[in-house]
Order: sequence, then structure tokens, then C-alpha cells
Amino acid sequence: MLMKEVLFKIIHLIFIFYSVSGEEQDEGERENELTYTTSIRALAELRDIENSYMKHLSNYVNSLQKKVKFLKKYLESLTRENIDSEKYVKNPLNIFGLVRRSHEDWPKINAYIRSNDSFKDDLNEMHNYFNRTPNSQDMEEALWGMHRIESIYDLQAWDMANGVISTHKLPSQMSATDCLAVANFMYNQSEFRRAAQWYRIALHFIQKEKNGMAAEFYGPKREDLKKMFVISRLQEGSIDDLPSYLDELSQKPDIPLTYLKPKPLPTPLQIGCRGEYPNQSRLVCRYNTTTTPFMRIAPLKEEEISKDPLIWLYHDVLFDSEMALLTKNLTREEMIQGYTNNQTTPDKGYRIFQVKVYEGDGGKLDRTLVNRMTDISGLDVGNHTYLARANYGLGTHFQEHSDYVDLRENPDLGSEGDRLFTFLFYASDVEMGGATIFPAANISIKPKKGSALFWYNLHNDWEPNPLSRHAVCPMVLGNRWILNKSMLSHRQIFLKLCYK
Ligand SMILES: *[C@@H]1O[C@H](CO)[C@@H](O)[C@H](O)[C@H]1NC(C)=O
Ligand SMILES: *[C@@H]1O[C@H](CO)[C@@H](O)[C@H](O)[C@H]1NC(C)=O
Ligand SMILES: *[C@@H]1O[C@H](CO)[C@@H](O)[C@H](O)[C@H]1NC(C)=O
Ligand SMILES: *[C@@H]1O[C@H](CO)[C@@H](O)[C@H](O)[C@H]1NC(C)=O
Ligand SMILES: *[C@@H]1O[C@H](CO)[C@@H](O)[C@H](O)[C@H]1NC(C)=O
Ligand SMILES: *[C@@H]1O[C@H](CO)[C@@H](O)[C@H](O)[C@H]1NC(C)=O
Ligand SMILES: *[C@@H]1O[C@H](CO)[C@@H](O)[C@H](O)[C@H]1NC(C)=O
Ligand SMILES: *[C@@H]1O[C@H](CO)[C@@H](O)[C@H](O)[C@H]1NC(C)=O
Ligand SMILES: *[C@@H]1O[C@H](CO)[C@@H](O)[C@H](O)[C@H]1NC(C)=O
Repeated sequence: MLMKEVLFKIIHLIFIFYSVSGEEQDEGERENELTYTTSIRALAELRDIENSYMKHLSNYVNSLQKKVKFLKKYLESLTRENIDSEKYVKNPLNIFGLVRRSHEDWPKINAYIRSNDSFKDDLNEMHNYFNRTPNSQDMEEALWGMHRIESIYDLQAWDMANGVISTHKLPSQMSATDCLAVANFMYNQSEFRRAAQWYRIALHFIQKEKNGMAAEFYGPKREDLKKMFVISRLQEGSIDDLPSYLDELSQKPDIPLTYLKPKPLPTPLQIGCRGEYPNQSRLVCRYNTTTTPFMRIAPLKEEEISKDPLIWLYHDVLFDSEMALLTKNLTREEMIQGYTNNQTTPDKGYRIFQVKVYEGDGGKLDRTLVNRMTDISGLDVGNHTYLARANYGLGTHFQEHSDYVDLRENPDLGSEGDRLFTFLFYASDVEMGGATIFPAANISIKPKKGSALFWYNLHNDWEPNPLSRHAVCPMVLGNRWILNKSMLSHRQIFLKLCYK
């Protein structure tokens, strides 16, 4: 491989670390790390597993029921004549039955009770699924996902627990144990007001829980939940106000708790994700047929989103058949965990989505798409495809980051220049969440199936443009599939026009 190509590749990889090997797990025998929470694709597989689990559990329950039914009948036949023992054995038929039963029946009954032929396979299968269940890190990510959904979109815990997400009413509800897990997590994160709300909801749900799971296995006594509620309140409040906290505890859980500490002001990112940026002045839309000869045949529906940073949104640039191929054909096994890294993101490596990158040539479809990018932008997109397809999961997001690495600070990273532009194709609609936002520029773009976002990360003088820093809002409802590609600057020196 040429040195240039190696460098190109390295630059490409620094934006997302690919962990193929997976981290060390303390959970023993797992062959390879399975992560579900960070991608809807993977979560669908987990649901498939649960469906199989339920099938086997149901078989097992049916077998047990048959057994219990038989044993009950047997028991009834024995207890029919419930009279004094001495009186009972005056009857020769009773005597003979007693001797024969205890000699002949009981060993059979005992063996029958112990036998597991009718459900052995089901139990084994159910046991095998344990190798494929989410690990504790996955569980923690799910908790973070719920945390983000609640805090970034400023939702009420009671609404969430009842499946009311903004204007959407979901046909589901959280269980008492779900709420308890979230409450404990919030408490651990020092989100004491939120924790208190979740404890109060758990308390409320536990009384009407149908499956009894909480009572049977988790055993939180109502007193414990009340205690945790009060402790959570006291973390931010004062012991003098204890009576008012006890009042709150007796209120219905749909009444939001007051802030004992000042309510934090929303960050620009939160404002953007909540769709509360000031309305943009006029947007420019037009059909563009000038870029390349191809465009004369298929004019582009082009929408100028912003001049600084320069952002364009192109409508209907992916065909349904292409999107079907891009998303449906990918199996979970083929996807790997995408991490942020601290070159471009302030915090430490954090899992975001699951991603598949075809390094080098990703095949016919990828080449078609890369050619289309050339047609759209008029820029040299290169003959390596290096297309990334990413799928987000439960409440997963991408913190604010830049796509450039800033060569002034990392000079050894870019013999071919910094990342000049980024193409982001939306291969699915998202019902709620998952917007691409540029917080410094007050810009928020909702994913729209088939459209593509294109922006410059560098100024005309090739210096990084901090306004191009962007983020992806936490996913809430739906399945976010994107396809992206960035290009280094040096190729474009003679192609890129200067924009005013
Ligand atoms: C079924 O019973 C046999 C004999 O008692 C025992 O060795 C085996 O572990 C049982 N299998 C299951 C799945 O319980
Ligand atoms: C809370 O933190 C403790 C100690 O760090 C940890 O053992 C526990 O698992 C955490 N619980 C949750 C729900 O995160
Ligand atoms: C932005 O525009 C929408 C519809 O055009 C309108 O409903 C909304 O009130 C506007 N928001 C602001 C802050 O002006
Ligand atoms: C998609 O999957 C089908 C069936 O598994 C296969 O025939 C086809 O080649 C795949 N397409 C791509 C682009 O991988
Ligand atoms: C970035 O990560 C590397 C290694 O993971 C670490 O050595 C370095 O201190 C981190 N930098 C920042 C700014 O966190
Ligand atoms: C068409 O798009 C290209 C590339 O984005 C741009 O340079 C050109 O100015 C556009 N033409 C029109 C008429 O908008
Ligand atoms: C990429 O383009 C270069 C020259 O422009 C050429 O030498 C090379 O073979 C091309 N590679 C592929 C995979 O098309
Ligand atoms: C973004 O919006 C805020 C008000 O919400 C305003 O103060 C700020 O100047 C805006 N920034 C830009 C770049 O438009
Ligand atoms: C994918 O898109 C995100 C923006 O959503 C960008 O930050 C990231 O660097 C891109 N990854 C690749 C491999 O292009």
C-alpha cells in the first residue's frame, strides 16, 4: 500500500475507533462481545432472542401445567376419603389400595416429578440464551439512553413511564422494575430530583404490577422506595423541609417535583434538540442543473441551509431501492461498535452507534453513491469509496464535535489536508430525535429519508471553521440510518470554489 493511502486511512480512522476485538469482559465465557443498545439493528436481534425465549418458556410452562394438572388429580383421588386413620383401615379395599399405592405409585410419582424429559430441551435452550444477553456495559448504556431522552428533551418522568413522548403516545408502559432501575441510576448520577420522581413512580407502579416480578425477585419494600425518595430529596433540600417531602410522596406521581436547586439553563445543544432555535430567515431552494453534465438529466433539489458554515440539503438523492439495500442487507455481525474519540470530541471514547465501513471499494452501490456525491458537489470525491453506514440505538447520540482534526494542533495527521467537507445521507426517516445540529450556528436538521446534507468544515482559506462543529441529538423514536463520507482538502484545491 502506498504511504499516502496509509495516511489517508489513518486519518479516516481517527474519527471513529473500530473495536473489532472488543474489550475485556469480566463476564466469562462470551465468545465475542455483543452490544445491543447502540443500534436498532442489533436491538431487533435481541427482540428475536426474547421471542424465542418466550416460546421456550411457554413450552416449559405448558409442560409444567400438564404435570401440575395430573398431580392435582392424583392428589384429589387420595384425599377424597378424609376420615380418621384407624377407621379408614378397617375397610379391606382401603387397606389394599393403601399398601399398593405406597408401594407401587409413590416411586412412580416421585420419578414423574423429577423427570424433565418434556421440557429438558426448552430449559437448555433458555439457558443458552444467557450467552447472548446484554452485558452490564450494555445495560448501563441503556440507562444512559433513557437519561438522555429525559434530560435533553426535558420530558416528564411520569409521561415517559406511561409512554407519552412529546406528541407521541406509545402503546406501552414501563414496569415497576424498569422505573426502579432508572431511579437508582439517576441517583448514582446525582440527578436527585429525577431520581425522586422515578422512585415515586416505581412505588406507584409496584402496587398494580401484574407480573409480580418486582415483589418476587427485587423485593424493594414500599418502605425502601419511600426512604429512597426522601433521601433523594434531602440530597438537594433541607431536613427542615422534611414534612413537605413527605407531602410530595403522598401526591400523585404525575405532579412534577419542584426544583430544590435552581433549574439549569438549557445548553445550546438542548435548545437545538428541542427544536427551539430561532427560526431561520429565508431559505433558498432551487433546482441545480449546472454542477455536472449528469445534473442536466436529473436536476437537484437543492436547499441552502446556511451560508456560514456553508450547508446544503439535497432532497431525494437516494432511491428507495438503494436505501433498502444499504440498510436491510447489513447484519448485526457485520457491524462494529463506533466510538467517539477525543481528537474531535471533548470526552473520552464513548460508544455511539454501530457502523459498517467498506474500506477501499465497497462495491457497485457504494461506487454509484460516491459518483453521485461527485455529481452533487462538483468535487473530487476520490475513487476509494470508504462509505460509512451507521445505525443508532436507544437514546444514542453523537456529542458536539468537529469533523476536522485541526492540523495546526495535529500537524502529523494530515499529509493530504484536513477534512474539507462532509456528506451525510439520511437513509431513513426518524419519528423523533436524531436531528443533526450545529449549535454554534443555531441550525438543526431533521433526518429525511433519501436526502443528503453537505457542509464544509473548513473556511475558504482552509482553516477550520468552528461553526461547523455539530452533534447528533439523542434518538427517541424510530430507526436512524445514515451514510457518510468526508473528504480531505488537498484533492480539492483546484475544484473547490470560494463561497461568499
Ligand atoms: C434433567 O434431569 C436429569 C436427571 O435428574 C439431570 O441430570 C439434568 O440436569 C436435568 N436437566 C435439566 C435441564 O434440568
Ligand atoms: C450505583 O453505583 C454503585 C457504586 O458505584 C454501583 O455498584 C451500582 O451498580 C450503581 N447502580 C446503578 C443502578 O447504576
Ligand atoms: C417558527 O416558525 C413556526 C412555523 O413557521 C412557528 O410556529 C413558530 O412559532 C416560530 N418560532 C419562533 C420562535 O418564531
Ligand atoms: C443482499 O442480500 C441478498 C440476499 O441475501 C444478496 O443476494 C445480495 O447480493 C445482497 N446485496 C448486497 C449489495 O450485498
Ligand atoms: C485522549 O486520549 C488519549 C489516549 O486515549 C489520552 O492519552 C489523552 O490524554 C486524551 N486527551 C484528552 C484531551 O483527553
Ligand atoms: C449548483 O451546485 C454547485 C455545487 O454546490 C454550486 O457551485 C453552484 O453554484 C450551484 N448552481 C446554482 C445555480 O445554484
Ligand atoms: C484511483 O485513481 C488512480 C488515479 O486517478 C488510479 O491509478 C487507481 O487505479 C484508481 N483506483 C481504483 C480502485 O479505481
Ligand atoms: C443563536 O440564537 C441565539 C438566541 O437563541 C442568539 O443569541 C445567537 O446570536 C444565535 N447565533 C447565531 C450564530 O445565529
Ligand atoms: C459520520 O458522520 C458524523 C456526523 O454525523 C461525523 O462526525 C463522523 O466523523 C462521520 N464518520 C465518518 C467515518 O465519516
